[in-house]
Order: sequence, then C-alpha cells, then structure tokens
Amino acid sequence: MTQRKGIILAGGTGSRLWPITQGVSKQLMPVYDKPMIYYPLSVLMLAGIREIAVITTDEDQAQFQRLLGDGSQWGIALDWIVQPKPEGLAQAYILAEDFLSGAPSAMVLGDNIFFGHGLPAKMAQADSRSGGTVFGYRVSDPERYGVVDFAPDGTVREIIEKPAKPPSNYAVTGLYFLDETAPERARAVRPSPRGELEIADLLESYRRDGKLNVEAMGRGYAWLDTGTHGSLLDAGNFVRTLQDRQGTQVGCPEEIAFERGWLSPDGLRARADVYAKTGYGAYLRGLLRE
Ligand code: DAU
Repeated sequence: MTQRKGIILAGGTGSRLWPITQGVSKQLMPVYDKPMIYYPLSVLMLAGIREIAVITTDEDQAQFQRLLGDGSQWGIALDWIVQPKPEGLAQAYILAEDFLSGAPSAMVLGDNIFFGHGLPAKMAQADSRSGGTVFGYRVSDPERYGVVDFAPDGTVREIIEKPAKPPSNYAVTGLYFLDETAPERARAVRPSPRGELEIADLLESYRRDGKLNVEAMGRGYAWLDTGTHGSLLDAGNFVRTLQDRQGTQVGCPEEIAFERGWLSPDGLRARADVYAKTGYGAYLRGLLRE
C-alpha cells in the first residue's frame, strides 16, 4: 500500500464552457452517466490511494460534498480544501501542504479522463520512482497543453505551457506524481504573466534537479479532454461506447473499492440499493454475483 496521498483539483471558473458552467461546477457536469469527477477519483483509487483531498471553489464545495460525502461509502477518506481564486495548478500543493504533511502525492485534474488497461501498473511504477513523474501523451493539438521539449538524446529539456510553436506533439497530462518536496517547491514558484502559479514552473524545478521523469502514455490509452463543448460530448460518447460494448463501467468507484477489498459485499449491496432504480445499481448488484 502506497503512503502517497491524492489531490483532485476541481476549482476554476469553467469559463470555456459557459453558460453551462455558470450554474454548476465543470467537474460536476455529466460525462455520459456519471459526474466528471468520478473519473479522476477512480484513477487515484486505481493507484491504491485512499486519502484524497478535493480542492474546489468556496461556492461549489457544498455541492461536491453532497455528491461525494466523506468517502467512507468507498472505503476511502476525503478531505476538503477551498481554493479561493484560481491562481494556478501549482497553488494546489501550497493549499494541500497540511493535508499532505510530508507525504508524496498524486494530483489529478478534476476534468481529466484516463482509460487504459495498463493504467494501474503504470501508476504503480510512477509511485515507486523518486522525484516527480508526469505522463506525456501524443496529441494533434499540443498548443492547447503543457508540452514536452525533448533534447535529441531523449532527455527532457523543458516543459512549456501552451507554446505557440510546440517543440513536440507530446502534451503533459493532468496527472502528476510528485515527491514530498512539492509544497516547498511550489512556494518558490512566482506568478506568471497571467497571474498563475504554473505547474510547468513547478515541474521545471524538478527537472533542474534531475528529478523529473516523463513517462509516455502510449497508443493503448485514452486521455480525453473535456475542455470544449465538443470534446465534452466526445468524452461522453466514448464512455458510452465502451460501456455498452463491454458491459463494464468506466470510472466506477464502488467497483474499484470492492475489487481492492476496501468495500465488503454488504457495503457494496448497500451501495447497489442506493441506486436501485438505475442501470448503475444493477451493475453493482451484478458485481456481487460474479
Ligand atoms: O489537461 C492537462 C493540461 O492541464 C496540462 O497539459 C497543462 O500543462 C495544464 O496547465 C492544464 O492546462 P489547462 O489549460 O487545462 O488548465 P486550466 O487552467 O483549464 O485548468 C485545468 C483544470 O484545473 C480546470 O478544470 C480548472 C482547474 N483549476 C485551474 C486553475 C488554474 C483549478 O482548480 N484551479 C486553478 O487555479
């Protein structure tokens, strides 16, 4: 069992999805049949992480709490942290410093969706590495992301946030495995011209010290974007297609908790009863029979 703690960063204004997200937080929007945050939450659970802080805006926190509670229904413990203003991804480590209390962390952005057979093993590998590990994913539109600049020998020269001329097609996904020095390093990051503590600058601090690993997340993985109305709909369709075809759920916290023994058969039955009127409930009951 890893001592690594989890962080889900689910603040921000969601302004690129307005008017939808003027009334409800982006990370609570549906991705097919589940709230968006279920997917990154499931990723951390697949990494074996049971202590997770959820960072939200002040005004949205109550809605997230209504949905997720204290996590005990899944055998995990959720902590709640407010980010008063969206002052950058790296700020999450400063806000979460007390929660982490010297532990290494895995942070996932609340709007990132990952899917792939080898994901738990890939994360276990990242967990066992020292320093920091991020995942590079080939995309057709790198200028929208943090991008990896590789030197000819394959080492990382720099991570550049939204470069006008991307040095590669490898975007850095929103899943960061950082060691216990992340809060201290984040405190040394200065605000960028757009007024944010940039994750790229925090990663640069690791890279300078020779402590940044960039792992490729290859063709067998889906890393889905929910940044535009179109990509949000595409993500929902992707989940629907997979689920309908395979008869399995993507991003089901109960299933992960049950498989890992964090949830007893009785606990799972109780969860199935909550969703008795839905296909989700029928799926959970099916897990009990298998
Ligand atoms: O999705 C991966 C990308 O995420 C990375 O490739 C980039 O390096 C990274 O900067 C980030 O880029 P985005 O353009 O997606 O960042 P955005 O400002 O949209 O924030 C990502 C999520 O984090 C979003 O759901 C809102 C939330 N957020 C953002 C900021 C800046 C917060 O909760 N607090 C914040 O202060």
